Amino acid sequence: MATPLLIAQLSDFHIGLGPHFLGGRMDTEQALRAAVLHVAALPTPPDVVLLTGDLTERGSAAEYAVVADALAPLTTRGTPVYAVPGNHDEPNMARRALPLCMPAAPDAPACCYHRQHSGLHLVALDTVVPFKSHGALQAPQLAWLAQTLDACRGGPVLIFMHHPPLPTGIEALDSCSLLHGAEELAALVRGHGAVQGLLCGHLHRAVQMQFGGAPLHVAPSVAHQFTLDLRPGAPLRAQLEPPKVSLHRWHPVHGLCSHTSYVQPFGEPLPL
Ligand SMILES: [Fe+2]
Repeated sequence: MATPLLIAQLSDFHIGLGPHFLGGRMDTEQALRAAVLHVAALPTPPDVVLLTGDLTERGSAAEYAVVADALAPLTTRGTPVYAVPGNHDEPNMARRALPLCMPAAPDAPACCYHRQHSGLHLVALDTVVPFKSHGALQAPQLAWLAQTLDACRGGPVLIFMHHPPLPTGIEALDSCSLLHGAEELAALVRGHGAVQGLLCGHLHRAVQMQFGGAPLHVAPSVAHQFTLDLRPGAPLRAQLEPPKVSLHRWHPVHGLCSHTSYVQPFGEPLPL
């Protein structure tokens, strides 16, 4: 009988963001620790956890040490945790602190790699352009992805990456999303025919789209969210919202079903 795979997605922790951020009302370390404990205590704990970038604010060793420690409730119980870098990360530091989360793949460019769980291929795509906030997929990443999808031989694939490849209408974010390689990525996704979904971060909002014929899910931040403002030219602003994580249930027959789980719900569940 086909068994579903549960995948928790946590994104954009920004560990190290100053204590005065949002008037001192956002403690990103506390937010990450609460999100990890929430995921670890879910009635159905995840089989795999994916981190979609901006783990830290400045990419320092001290910041990654906090991330590694905060993830311990998941990593010490043996839950596989895999990460891609975001534009605020420093991949070498991240790999040093979290070697199992961002595994080195000698044949892959930058921080790209490929893992497999219960028949699902997890493909980590590194979209970071050094010292820029926007993302790009350059020729080496696209060639590696084409080769990796070929090697999956039509098997189900889940791609995870930091920068979303489509505009959202939030102009300040659209100008720093994936600015190069989106068309080529869409063609590869469509050509493979069994990409179950693409999981992204960067937007600090939960957003659903379709891309290359597959569902695309952007996870909210576990900390602060960017304001939903679709007016042309609207400035980027951040705000406090109930912290959230994404929980994806992948079924070999039914595909991907994406849930949003609130880290601090208003009280315990009650019988009806
Ligand atoms: Fe971010």
